[in-house]
Amino acid sequence: MGDNSKKALVESLNTLLADTFALYIKTKNFHWHVKGPNFRDLHLLFDEQAAEIFALTDLIAERVRKNGADTLTSLGAIVRKSQVADQDSTGLDAAAMVKELIGDNETYLAALRAAKAAAGEAGDNATEGQSDDWTDQCERRIWFLKQTVA
Ligand SMILES: [Fe+2]
Repeated sequence: MGDNSKKALVESLNTLLADTFALYIKTKNFHWHVKGPNFRDLHLLFDEQAAEIFALTDLIAERVRKNGADTLTSLGAIVRKSQVADQDSTGLDAAAMVKELIGDNETYLAALRAAKAAAGEAGDNATEGQSDDWTDQCERRIWFLKQTVA
């Protein structure tokens, strides 16, 4: 395995980590601001999903360190790398929040697939294996979100 494939893997993992933090805060934001007749269910669902997402941050960052590279250091570094867009309006209705989280989790799924592919290229079996669990969790989040608006 070459230095280039290792560099691409680390870059991919650090992007995934930034997306993880951004998706966490957006899911928590919607946990705090959701309103309407499904308030209780969505408030609790968003909290469960946020906790699941947050738990990934340490695993991903430590995969970068185990590959001998530096990981993210600050909120600024997260903002520079994340592909998940901010949503600062607190007035979205519940269905719009769910729709936005479905899209963001789909973006996240693509970042997971990129990280897994990069891990395969670099011969990083541990990242490749763990990313399957992270993908399964993400697909579950998308499934749950979709069923609330089906
Ligand atoms: Fe809470």
